[in-house]
Amino acid sequence: MLDIKIERTTAAKTKPDYDKLGFGNYYTDHMFLMNYTKGIGWHDARIVPYGPLSLDPATMVFHYAQEMFEGLKAYYTPEGKIQLFRPQKNIERMNNTNRRMCIPEIDPEDALQAIRAVVEMDKDWIPKEEGKSLYIRPFIIATDVHLGVHPSKTYLFAIILCPVAAYYAAGINPVKIFIEREYVRAVRGGTGFAKVGGNYASSLIGQEKAEKMGYAQVLWLDGVEHKYIDEVGAMNVFFVIDGKVITPALSEGNILPGVTRASCIELLKSKGIPVEERKLSIDEVLDAYKNGTLNEAFGTGTAAVISPIGELNDGETVMTLNDGNIGPISQMLYDNLTGIQWGKLEDTLGWTVPVC
Ligand code: COI
Repeated sequence: MLDIKIERTTAAKTKPDYDKLGFGNYYTDHMFLMNYTKGIGWHDARIVPYGPLSLDPATMVFHYAQEMFEGLKAYYTPEGKIQLFRPQKNIERMNNTNRRMCIPEIDPEDALQAIRAVVEMDKDWIPKEEGKSLYIRPFIIATDVHLGVHPSKTYLFAIILCPVAAYYAAGINPVKIFIEREYVRAVRGGTGFAKVGGNYASSLIGQEKAEKMGYAQVLWLDGVEHKYIDEVGAMNVFFVIDGKVITPALSEGNILPGVTRASCIELLKSKGIPVEERKLSIDEVLDAYKNGTLNEAFGTGTAAVISPIGELNDGETVMTLNDGNIGPISQMLYDNLTGIQWGKLEDTLGWTVPVC
């Protein structure tokens, strides 16, 4: 159990216009911080006023990117309760990432305590409007001041909070995705399964290229053959072909094990809808499109929730899915998932965790 010291802000911020939140634009009054020192472990858990971190220019994270991050949300229920969605899954993934990045693990109970404490502290920032929530961004950075390439001996764990609306400006409306055939996001043995900034940094060039052509995001293919579907960077991806739901398997280690992804698979199974986790080639998707069996496609993620794909462009073929409308499976998953998250549907699967 952490002994969390609290320093309250003396200059509470003016809240933004919640009708114009967007995603990632505003931060709350406080943040959680905790340090790690080799030989001592994690120490000095504290909640302090939100503000800049002061770091030496030679701090290791700036040079060798030894860092990780997570993303989860807190929701207001109609009864005025505050709840988290499967935070234990994020904490488990955080420690999987930490192992890959040679960052010391954090006791899962301590991590949950820290998340609940800082969310409770800034609970008046949690949006009450439909479809909005408080995005929670835990992250860890290497803080040794040193330029040798080896794991840091000190780290900072921080949690910041951000009231958000939909990740894409389009909201639940279908997004347009460009299939990237030149650049790759991850390779076997790399960090594709880990939630590290480097994965996102290397995706920016493809993202920028797609945006210039009017696409919201990139569909990444595998790093070896450029043939098998990987993920969409800010979300995992599902295709409905001939009534079967198919999503790339996690076994190659190059796909982020999304909490929303896992929840959708469990929801689909609980409703008796066939779902396959396997290798899926882009040719299979193109063939399904050509023979009329590509029923729908959608992305899943904490930020994106369920994001239907209205158009897929592979540079040669432009596939319009479901006439650019949200498909029935995407809609069903969106309704069930958000219903549980916002406390409007009974949580029969035990996925929500109260904050206060
Ligand atoms: C999330 O869905 O929480 C993510 O981390 C995606 C992100 C890059 C916005």
